[in-house]
Amino acid sequence: MSVVITGATGHLGRLVVEDLLARGVRADRITATARDTARLADLADRGVRTARADFDDPASLKEALAGADTLLLVSGSEVGGRVAQHRNVVEAARGAGVGHLVYTSAPRATDTTLVLAPEHGATEEIITASGLAYTILRNGWYNENFAQKLEEARVTGAFVGSAGQGRTASASRQDLAEAASVVLRDPGAHAGAVYELSGDTAWTYDDLAATLGELLGREVVYRDLTTEEHVAALTGAGLDEDTARFVAALDTNTRDGELSDTTGELSRLIGRPTTPVAETLRALL
Ligand SMILES: NC(=O)c1ccc[n+]([C@@H]2O[C@H](COP(=O)([O-])OP(=O)(O)OC[C@H]3O[C@@H](n4cnc5c(N)ncnc54)[C@H](OP(=O)(O)O)[C@@H]3O)[C@@H](O)[C@H]2O)c1
Repeated sequence: MSVVITGATGHLGRLVVEDLLARGVRADRITATARDTARLADLADRGVRTARADFDDPASLKEALAGADTLLLVSGSEVGGRVAQHRNVVEAARGAGVGHLVYTSAPRATDTTLVLAPEHGATEEIITASGLAYTILRNGWYNENFAQKLEEARVTGAFVGSAGQGRTASASRQDLAEAASVVLRDPGAHAGAVYELSGDTAWTYDDLAATLGELLGREVVYRDLTTEEHVAALTGAGLDEDTARFVAALDTNTRDGELSDTTGELSRLIGRPTTPVAETLRALL
């Protein structure tokens, strides 16, 4: 087995590498890749192979993927540019004869109004048309995404949003990294699978307010705003208009239930319940 991980400098990619090592995959069978390999020096010290892989640089991808059996493509973080970047990776994987490609996507990527989904849906189409064996990990929202609400509540005793009574079935990055590790260690068993990976329970912002209140030992209130009020609050706090509209649109998606599916597929893959948002946020406190 040889497995290449992209985005190994990122939160998720790093956790996947650590989980593979913890479960006994030999360090020299793992290639951790990044745009800046200096940031992978500690992994290299532990025997993990490292390589430069920039989604915008096909030559770097060709070199990094040479000899790989399995590739984990952790979706990039440059919203708007990702389809072309991911296409570069898929083409390099084909050229290098990679046996199996695993991709981190988004919930119901091809059948949702989620504002982030189009790039993921387009990437999935590129992958399925590529002829490569593949597994799609449609990762739900991270518990860690709500660290900002924890901070807001800690300082003010309240947080704002525009998700109404919409629910989020979040899970920790560690849960999702473990699921990726399960698939990477036995890709053949997951060939062609499209997993909807979400937390076991779906909670509302009112539930989150109660959770934060318990964690902080004070009353925490969720103030539900209209979308326009939410955008105004975000721009008032210093966000530019486009970013504010994007953040508010994610709350609209939440209100509409686009992030609420509790499929049980994540806990089934990792063989344990998913991590409650309270547990992740307690650790961050
Ligand atoms: N499910 C969720 O709630 C959620 C939330 C946020 C993001 N996401 C998605 O899930 C991915 C992984 O999450 P994360 O928390 O690990 O994000 P992260 O910590 O921001 O890591 C993103 C990784 O992508 C790499 N990357 C970005 N552009 C690249 C390029 N042109 N070439 C090569 N690598 C590139 C980054 O490398 P550098 O270190 O060089 O920048 C970094 O290693 C994100 O990239 C995003 O697509 C999901």
